[in-house]
Amino acid sequence: LTVAVLISGTGSNMRALLEAAADPGFPARVVAVGADREADGFAHAEDFGIPTFLVPYGQFPSREAWGEELARQLDVWNPDLVVLSGLMRLLPPALVDARAPHIINTHPAYLPEFPGAHGVRDALVAGVSQTGASVIVVDDGVDSGPILAQERVPVLPSDDEHTLHERIKPVERRLLIDVVRRIATGDIDLAAVAAPQTT
Ligand code: GRF
Repeated sequence: LTVAVLISGTGSNMRALLEAAADPGFPARVVAVGADREADGFAHAEDFGIPTFLVPYGQFPSREAWGEELARQLDVWNPDLVVLSGLMRLLPPALVDARAPHIINTHPAYLPEFPGAHGVRDALVAGVSQTGASVIVVDDGVDSGPILAQERVPVLPSDDEHTLHERIKPVERRLLIDVVRRIATGDIDLAAVAAPQTT
């Protein structure tokens, strides 16, 4: 299974996937890493000799135009699966529809709790005693697609956004690696998962 990863930031979750995929026994390999801005995480791709591509959101007149260029870049690598790992940008519907259901995303909350760009902060503000990590199929909504894996993570009274996020990320990494492995082996059939549920 070939995988392209999209990031916006430090790419620490992506690094965990790169490390897992570096094992010749892992059934998937990362063929490219892309970002919507100069992402520190590109350094991880370079460490593993994986090509990177930059599609700077700010240089495009619209989300749609940005998405069209991103789609063209992805078509160059023609991955079987696109993994969003800290991409802080919503994909335009045209791109999602073109590649669905072969786009997955990791989210630092127990979806459908706390979707969106501030899931960790929202859990803290809500004062919950536990939150979680989720891996989902990307659909046209915001963190609203079918859940492929999720696990609870405790919130400690002493937590701030950073300490809580750092407790969640290792769980995200483990879930992401396991989901990619299961997609590669056919244990997860994305087409079946994403198919409209017949009543
Ligand atoms: C991850 O928790 C991801 O789920 C969220 O942002 C974080 C990215 O962290 N969208 P990193 O860039 O992988 O370190």
